[in-house]
Amino acid sequence: MSTSNAAPPPADRVFLITGASTGIGAATARHAAAAGWRLVLAARSKERLDALAEELGGRERALAVQCDVTSWEDQQRMAAAALETFGGIDVAFANAGFGGPRGFLNDTPEHWREMVLTNVYGAALTIRATVPALKSSRGHLLLTSSVAGRRALPGSFYSCTKFAVTAMGEAARQDLNDTGVRVTLIEPGMTDTPFFDNRPSNALEDDDIARAVIYAVSQPPHVDVNEILIRPTAQSG
Ligand SMILES: NC(=O)c1ccc[n+]([C@@H]2O[C@H](COP(=O)([O-])OP(=O)(O)OC[C@H]3O[C@@H](n4cnc5c(N)ncnc54)[C@H](OP(=O)(O)O)[C@@H]3O)[C@@H](O)[C@H]2O)c1
Repeated sequence: MSTSNAAPPPADRVFLITGASTGIGAATARHAAAAGWRLVLAARSKERLDALAEELGGRERALAVQCDVTSWEDQQRMAAAALETFGGIDVAFANAGFGGPRGFLNDTPEHWREMVLTNVYGAALTIRATVPALKSSRGHLLLTSSVAGRRALPGSFYSCTKFAVTAMGEAARQDLNDTGVRVTLIEPGMTDTPFFDNRPSNALEDDDIARAVIYAVSQPPHVDVNEILIRPTAQSG
């Protein structure tokens, strides 16, 4: 069997993740580290990030950067820290986000505002902060949308933000066409993470989503996996 199409080995390439402190982001960091990537771990919870960076090999292998994705200054600092420490960015995974109660009368306007700033504006800022480095590395951009970004859920403002992320992935893909940068939308169904105050049963595990991310970034350079939508076998909606 020919191996000429094999993706280059990830040894020492640099994988940046926002929302890396828990859930899908932290699981992806663990899988990527096991596959040989160096990590840039970004979120607001510095202690959690520091502990994860230590677990994944310490400063040589994983850099923890405190970053509120709603802040352009923080995002610029995050990208600059990656370049200064590791010399480049090969994968940027814009994954930070959160949800809220369904029903247009059941959440506060302030919480909606934070959700837009984090899920939509924050993801766009991550693209803006990392695309110059991704163009240099002919790298890979991934965004965490959701099944809720593909079909509207009743009364879900969160769903509206994730539709925006889905559009952002396609807009970025077309914008980056011919630059060598690949773009993948990750669209999880219900996944058992701290996203939920009451943790769900019959849900996906964070590792299930992490494996999908690793699949996308492990393809040969001419293959762009544009979307991966994953439901738990038991999820109908
Ligand atoms: N769980 C599901 O069923 C599900 C399904 C579809 C899509 N998703 C999406 O998957 C992504 C990850 O969620 P998860 O399920 O892994 O939940 P999670 O465990 O709650 O992780 C959310 C991550 O986002 C970070 N974050 C939140 N606000 C931030 C901000 N302003 N700046 C920087 N980081 C921020 C959190 O870290 P800090 O609090 O430390 O900042 C945390 O690391 C989200 O985009 C979510 O919408 C989840």
